[in-house]
Amino acid sequence: MNSKDIVYVNGAFVPRAEARISVEDRGFVFGDGVYEVLRVINARPFAAKFHNDRLKRSLEGVRISLAGGASPESLTEIANQLLRDNGLLQGEATIYMQVTRGVATRAHNFPPPDLPPTIYISVARFTPYSEFAQTGAPAITHPDIRWGRCDLKTLNLLPNVLASQTAKERGAFEAMLIRDGVVTEGTKTNFFGVVDGSLRTHPSDTHILPGITRSVLRDLARTVNIDFDETPIRAEEIPRLSELFLTGTTTDVMPVVRLDDKPVGKGKPGELTKKLQRVLAESLASGGD
Ligand SMILES: Cc1ncc(COP(=O)(O)O)c(C=O)c1O
Repeated sequence: MNSKDIVYVNGAFVPRAEARISVEDRGFVFGDGVYEVLRVINARPFAAKFHNDRLKRSLEGVRISLAGGASPESLTEIANQLLRDNGLLQGEATIYMQVTRGVATRAHNFPPPDLPPTIYISVARFTPYSEFAQTGAPAITHPDIRWGRCDLKTLNLLPNVLASQTAKERGAFEAMLIRDGVVTEGTKTNFFGVVDGSLRTHPSDTHILPGITRSVLRDLARTVNIDFDETPIRAEEIPRLSELFLTGTTTDVMPVVRLDDKPVGKGKPGELTKKLQRVLAESLASGGD
């Protein structure tokens, strides 16, 4: 990140150091907003339609409207301009988009509906996690203390932040969250495990974020005759996991080889995980076509 990078705030393209948002912004005061993160390869946002649809769904879910008939697609156009302005047309980058309910005197209930939302978009150079992708990463288990609408990609990430920090302090890459005895997902990833030969992951309901990588991988997996079983993994099944991996826009398919300081399976990336890593890598390299 460089203070001279150009970012977009409410209609203006400005250097990051000059970007300003009011202290009364409801994103700042209440975390009242939603966001998206997209992966870009050689100027092409990967799975853009999935991200646009999820942003639309998150906005509807928290009842925020984009001003003046703007659409998630128009935000992607702005991001494309930022990629050009910041010299990121070649190689890998990420796009961050955030929409908050706007600037208003602090009150819990909504401000008037004609209040324009705050829209912030930035882009950054991205380098994939190549080492952990090869060797596999350590993870920990952690209680899932989040709210009941984890399917919306909102700014309310404090439980994720706290669990992620605990993972870091214990030398782990990610925390695998457990709610009511069931593995839900990670703080910034979806989790998949192989139990008795079948690939299992939590169903797409209000307890997890419907990950774009999860959706893309489901379609890709079918092309190599692998199916997901959406029967969540129960905590007591963890010792029987022969493979474990996580997925995310910036993590791809990442093997998890140690959980709570114990090896998962043989303690190295499993065959099914490596196969799915390969199909996703090929899809990313071809721009998702
Ligand atoms: C809680 C959570 N789960 C899963 C994911 C993975 O989603 P995606 O594949 O769309 O990046 C993320 C991404 O940020 C996340 O925050």
